[in-house]
Amino acid sequence: MMEEKLRQLREASLQAIRDAGALDALDAVRVKYLGKKGELTAVLKQMGGLSAEERPKMGQLANAIREELTAALEDGKRRLSEKALEMRLAAEREDVTIPGKPVTLGRPHPLNRVISEFSEIAIGMGFTIAEGPEVELSSYNFDKLNTPDGHPARDRQDTFYFTDDDSVLLRTQTSPVQIHVMENYPLPIRIIAPGRVYRKDEVDATHSPMFHQIEGLVIDEGITFGDLKGTLNELVHRLYGSDLKTRFRPHHFPFTEPSCEMDVECFKCHGAGCPVCKGEGWVELLGGGMVHPKVLEGCGIDTEKYSGFAFGFGSDRLAMFRFNISDLRLLFENDVRFLEQF
Ligand code: DAH
Repeated sequence: MMEEKLRQLREASLQAIRDAGALDALDAVRVKYLGKKGELTAVLKQMGGLSAEERPKMGQLANAIREELTAALEDGKRRLSEKALEMRLAAEREDVTIPGKPVTLGRPHPLNRVISEFSEIAIGMGFTIAEGPEVELSSYNFDKLNTPDGHPARDRQDTFYFTDDDSVLLRTQTSPVQIHVMENYPLPIRIIAPGRVYRKDEVDATHSPMFHQIEGLVIDEGITFGDLKGTLNELVHRLYGSDLKTRFRPHHFPFTEPSCEMDVECFKCHGAGCPVCKGEGWVELLGGGMVHPKVLEGCGIDTEKYSGFAFGFGSDRLAMFRFNISDLRLLFENDVRFLEQF
């Protein structure tokens, strides 16, 4: 009996819809009953064999079942979509009560802080910042700085050379920047040049094969040694406070005449004498002097009219002094436990 078959089919399909636990299972139910080769479709194909009286009745019944099934499928789809969404939300739920991961903020390295502070002060005094290459020609690092072949400063034991003829090297000082500036810029000149320098030194508390200097150069008419002393005292006082004692000692550098070194009162013992200053009460901060006429002339500067002074600070010393650091290695090991104190 067709009617019987239709009713069974209705029961079975509605049950299957209720049982479907997921959207794909539900769609499989739709295909099984309503699809082109589905069970309801198959029953309808047998309608031709019915009597004229039964056909419309069965047709009506079949249509009603199709509509009921379609509605039940829609319903099931809605229910399962909601369920799927709820499951996703549950799976992706954020626990807003978990404490956040702290973001560690970086900060400038103490050495860079001192270099920036120094640069700011120098800019305020009328200097501009110059730069030069770290891979340098020997002629700039030595010859043009009145340091001829055979001079002990050129020793292969102290200098990193790149070539067998010793013509290219890692600069051993920032002083070659003086030459680049004098060759390329008009007078008067007032520059500082912070940068890295390299020497074949064994690492210890005060030595490193790479360290830092800040070069200074002033060339103008009528510049005297008094300008050198006044400028350096002013720089150091603005950096460390005006009560810091300084002293100038005669020294020798090939590219300055006369030459000096400047000491400041020891930052550890304030003059009493301690291991940092080796009992002296003073620590050396820089070399300087009046630029040697040979150096000026080599750069085409008229020494009848112009004179100038130059100086070279040890930047690492400045930082150690500024932050009371007694071992140079701490500046380069980049241990955050050390660096985060500044
Ligand atoms: N370049 C020297 C050094 O590395 C430091 C220095 C001394 C720089 C005298 C100067 C200067 O400009 O005039 O030891």
